Amino acid sequence: MTSVGIDAIEIWTGNLKLDLPNTFAPEKGEDPEKYTKGLGLNASSFPDSYEDIVTMGANAAYRLMERKGLGPEDIGRIDVATESSFDKSKPISTYIAGCLEQVFDGDFHHANKGERKFACIAGTQCLDDAYNWIKADRSRGRAALVIATDTALYARDDPGEATQGAGAVAMLIDEDPNVVELSNEQGYGSADETDFLKPQQQFPSVDGKRSMQVYLARMREALEDYESVAGASHPDDFAYVPFHTPFPGMVRKAGLLAYRHMIRNTPIEEELAEEIGRQPRREEYDDETAYEDAVREHMDALKETDAYRTWYAETIEPTLTISREVGNWYTGSVHVARVSALKHALENDLDLAGSTLGVGSYGSGAEAEVHAEVVADGWREEIESITIDDQLDARRSITFEEYESIHDAHNHDKDVDTTELTTPSAEFVFDGWGRMGERKYRFVE
Ligand code: CAA
Repeated sequence: MTSVGIDAIEIWTGNLKLDLPNTFAPEKGEDPEKYTKGLGLNASSFPDSYEDIVTMGANAAYRLMERKGLGPEDIGRIDVATESSFDKSKPISTYIAGCLEQVFDGDFHHANKGERKFACIAGTQCLDDAYNWIKADRSRGRAALVIATDTALYARDDPGEATQGAGAVAMLIDEDPNVVELSNEQGYGSADETDFLKPQQQFPSVDGKRSMQVYLARMREALEDYESVAGASHPDDFAYVPFHTPFPGMVRKAGLLAYRHMIRNTPIEEELAEEIGRQPRREEYDDETAYEDAVREHMDALKETDAYRTWYAETIEPTLTISREVGNWYTGSVHVARVSALKHALENDLDLAGSTLGVGSYGSGAEAEVHAEVVADGWREEIESITIDDQLDARRSITFEEYESIHDAHNHDKDVDTTELTTPSAEFVFDGWGRMGERKYRFVE
């Protein structure tokens, strides 16, 4: 069978923008550099009062289908990944299909629709489902539409409030893809963890510092598991390594951990030994604390070396550009990181076809997955079509007071009247409630 992977991508950002260092930090009495340097964020995207996970997902999917000249008959399944669902039974994919049927001829009655939940990793799991469906020869020549859509809001005054965001990524999964071919080698690291969860509640309960440790621990397991099928990985194997990006500072830590792991027992480690010594080995230490202190000290030295800084600047930093401006999109974040990387290659005229990306996804609760992707010949044209820069520029900046009222407008426990801050154009909007409590939508020309 031919290769299977991502054939086209579209991104839709929430229409509002909260400036973190200049608007949010002063209200919180915090140093703006905590955001720009510490977390690595300049702004968060927010949904206006008429936007939600359905409108953002449908808008991204509509744009993708229009651009590719597709109709409902070309799509055999619609899988939505979200951890912001407002309905415990009816999947968001049915709402999105209903939206799309307003603007396309035909319908999606033939399409299998579902919703995946496993925190932020569900988008990658939907890619897997689509890949497996096509590889199993069940697709009848149709493509799959995977949509990762989230409104990543935290309770007011939760430390996570600094990392909020909202947006959707739509991906078309098909044979002979134009963007990337997915490899069938994967690694997993998964454990029953309580780092971030929403037990019957809209906003998450988060143990922030622990969530960062769990992210790193599961990612390390996933990388080792990946290597057990794909062989040892080396920093030069990958043109870019897009990670799940709750905020860029998290990826700074993941990148360093991955680099330390990949260079162990390689000539790079030997070359660096003269400068910073070899990596500590557990068997060389009598107790765990001494070993951990030595690892920490070594990592501090490693991150200052030219070898690491160059690798990071070329392989990781380019994956973070969009995230810095939009915050966390939960299920969409790792897919935004991939687009960021490919955009960087486009803007720097790099010849990327045939290069490999190493993709590290993560979902709290918790699971990490690592796989490789090979960039396909058509990547350039596809990435040129993505309008994310224009969308980011078109967002309306909000004041702190507007932020407070928008947060309230999206809080399911509050019933507030909020006026729209922007005027929707050529997009789906929330249009009130139906008789069974369903949310209704309409397309605005
Ligand atoms: N100048 C430069 N840097 C500064 C600074 C300043 N003035 N002030 C603070 N910093 C740095 C800190 O040193 C820290 O960096 P390091 O971790 O490298 O030391 C960083 O800025 C953040 O500062 P704090 O740790 O003081 O921030 P905080 O206590 O407010 O919490 C957080 C940060 C735990 C990430 C919190 O935002 C949070 O709970 N976020 C939600 C959970 C999350 O995103 N977890 C990530 C892993 S889980 C996951 O990935 C799933 C998911 O999507 C949620």
